[in-house]
Amino acid sequence: MKFAVIGDPISHSLSPVMHNTNFKVLGLNDTYEALHIPVQDFDNIKEIITEKNLSGFNVTIPHKERIIPFLDDIDEQAKAVGAVNTVKIEGNKWIGYNTDGLGYVKGLKQVYPDLSNAYILILGAGGASKGIATALSQCVQPKLTIANRTMSRFDNWKLDINAITLQQAEQYLDEFDIIINTTSAGLDNNKESVIRLDQLSPNTLVSDIIYIPYKTSFLQQAEEKGNPIYNGLDMFVYQGAESFKIWTGKDAEIKEMKLAVLNQLKGE
Ligand code: ATR
Repeated sequence: MKFAVIGDPISHSLSPVMHNTNFKVLGLNDTYEALHIPVQDFDNIKEIITEKNLSGFNVTIPHKERIIPFLDDIDEQAKAVGAVNTVKIEGNKWIGYNTDGLGYVKGLKQVYPDLSNAYILILGAGGASKGIATALSQCVQPKLTIANRTMSRFDNWKLDINAITLQQAEQYLDEFDIIINTTSAGLDNNKESVIRLDQLSPNTLVSDIIYIPYKTSFLQQAEEKGNPIYNGLDMFVYQGAESFKIWTGKDAEIKEMKLAVLNQLKGE
């Protein structure tokens, strides 16, 4: 079977090496390639993909919402999030899924096995936040708290969450067991982190969905305070494993996939 990831830019995507390693370890002849699809070519996406004879593909920035009108069906989770990162092709039918949120939660459980009673704060209210919140709300009992700079971002949220400002998050930081940064604040060589960590409790797990850089300034600050930290690498690996499961029904070789990505990251 043939698979791909579509996006723009795409040349630095680690998805091909990750998936091809998985196929190799499982003894499969499947292939996975990166396809550069600029926004202006998207009207022809059906023709481009059909010509490639794919059984499924991943969708990354900036097309996760743009792909939706081209789908024949969409899974509940992806619909709730409003973004699709995985498409399964059955005959001529395209079915959309979103494995990002579930991928993050599956990874998180490796370092925080019993999430059920955890008090969790998510920073940011964009697509990534909504995906993670949707997946977490299915396995965590206390209501999730989401903090965002712009409160109107919550207007179309259907999940039952506590919505707070970033200032309130700073003030009540010590109430949380896990803090997850999904914002892009602090990237772009900007060392400023999204919130101040003065009120952080010593045992709180501090997480960021970014893994390039491997340790964002947000994680660095938490680590300097002695807190456990957790980056977005597992999220990337598990979202890929979940896509593979949707396409083939098989379990992926998580360890080998993660090693392949780590080796690539070290080489760069
Ligand atoms: P994604 O799909 O990756 O979640 P997004 O939908 O563009 O991306 O969302 C980006 C998130 O990062 C938003 O929550 C955004 O806050 P606003 O809704 O207020 O724009 C947040 N964000 C980006 N830059 C930020 C900054 N400098 N400070 C605080 N929040 C920031």
